[in-house]
Amino acid sequence: MPEPIRIENAPLPAEGKGVRVLANGIPVAVFRVGGAFHAIDARCTHRGGPLDQGALHGTQVTCAWHGSVFDVTTGAVAHGPAEAPEHRYRARVEGSTLFLEPV
Ligand code: FES
Repeated sequence: MPEPIRIENAPLPAEGKGVRVLANGIPVAVFRVGGAFHAIDARCTHRGGPLDQGALHGTQVTCAWHGSVFDVTTGAVAHGPAEAPEHRYRARVEGSTLFLEPV
């Protein structure tokens, strides 16, 4: 089991929004839905669009570049053109520290 990645003083997203953080050099998009944090790789698996800047509807984020839709709770593709899922992280916040655990 890999150790969770620890990010001190992480920027945390507002409800229904996403932010980008760097986890060991990898851009990760962190979202807040219903008060819970969810994290997936920030680069769209289609052509690298920034998912942290995508529109979030419920638990689904739409890539701004070509409209692929991913479930932020699982990383699964809900709608193409992307075909590959996103890597997912278990996200937890303690104080001002964000912990991301690759799943
Ligand atoms: S880069 Fe995200 S849908 Fe194309």
